Amino acid sequence: MEKVTIALLGLGTVGSGVVDILKTQREKLKKTTGKEFVIKKILVNNLHKKRRVDLTGISLTNQAQDILKDRKIDVVIEVMGTVDVAKAYLKEALVNHKDVITANKDLIAQAGPELELLAQKTGQKLYYEAAVAGGIPILRTLKTAYLADEITRIDGIVNGTSNFILTAMQADRLSYQAALNKAQELGFAESNPVNDVAGFDAAYKMVILTNQAFGTQLKATDVFTQGISQVDLEDILFAERMGLKLKLIGTTQKLGSQVAVAVMPAFLAADTRLAQVDNENNGLGIVSRNLGHMFFYGPGAGSLPTANSVVSDLVDIATNKNGLAKVQTPLAKMADNEIEQKYYLRLSSKNLADILAWLEKTVPFKVVSQTEKRLVVIGTWKQNEVKVLTQTLGTKSNYFLARFLTEEK
Ligand code: HSE
Repeated sequence: MEKVTIALLGLGTVGSGVVDILKTQREKLKKTTGKEFVIKKILVNNLHKKRRVDLTGISLTNQAQDILKDRKIDVVIEVMGTVDVAKAYLKEALVNHKDVITANKDLIAQAGPELELLAQKTGQKLYYEAAVAGGIPILRTLKTAYLADEITRIDGIVNGTSNFILTAMQADRLSYQAALNKAQELGFAESNPVNDVAGFDAAYKMVILTNQAFGTQLKATDVFTQGISQVDLEDILFAERMGLKLKLIGTTQKLGSQVAVAVMPAFLAADTRLAQVDNENNGLGIVSRNLGHMFFYGPGAGSLPTANSVVSDLVDIATNKNGLAKVQTPLAKMADNEIEQKYYLRLSSKNLADILAWLEKTVPFKVVSQTEKRLVVIGTWKQNEVKVLTQTLGTKSNYFLARFLTEEK
């Protein structure tokens, strides 16, 4: 039986899940693929740390070169995080004729096209299913089920941490800080949650999805990104009164030869499928010519779900599946003055009168509620106007901005 020799870079949550699956599913994988998957080495920081998985037959090393220069290793799986170091290791692995799997969305969002080009040049494979929506097999589905289709739009809840926080705020009537504390206590949010709550993690995933769905080469800076860290229980209760729910939604859409990507809190009708994706789960709605509306729901993180995506990539590599070329399309990023939507803006400030006067000069709006220090307005604005609003308000006041996605199912 042909042996596929593997090395892991990292043995944290996802790496341990990969070791677990390859051990427990060994016989099944042999029968279904006709291959034997063997982990030979794992790169770790601490050689003496107690591990929760059975490492019999696997050697641990703290020297990346032990792996990158080992000619017997066929596939390198990167599950250690970081951008610069991981990128250097993966480039070396590709140059040394190893196929590469990574779960690192920050890295793929920032250097995906560069790594893909190197993989093409060296004749190796580069797979990263686990980088988007954890256990949901979304990139694989885009590569296969949508080959003869034409995607026009994807709306996704792709950050479990922020979804958990918003769900907890609504369900338990918690403040943002109390919901964040709860997420941290339960291990859903990291001690420094900025990447998740500021929307950056979701923006990375939307970049990867956009590039896969539309063949573009966008970067995270092309995504208009607003997070949830300024959300207040008042905003959630406003949504409830209107029959809506507040979610952090990433949207990528193709209009003609242009593409627009944004990550922002959004109000959705409470009976839509996306609005019902709660807690730490992820969900993705895809609109396309042939399939119409499709919806994908599942765990966006966690040891076994994410490791399952990594192992699926491994099986694809070993059995030569899905090695189809990505069609590059010269889509332009849509201009900010062509994107117009309905927005909700809540401001808190001691100088509300000044801000109100400035707003009146800048954009049209309707006042929803107003007290001495707080103002809620709704307006239909172009993205360039919204950028001016957020840039100006950012330094002067606390604000929370969300969009309305009430037509989306
Ligand atoms: N921090 C990420 C999330 C983990 O909350 O969704 C999975 O990428």
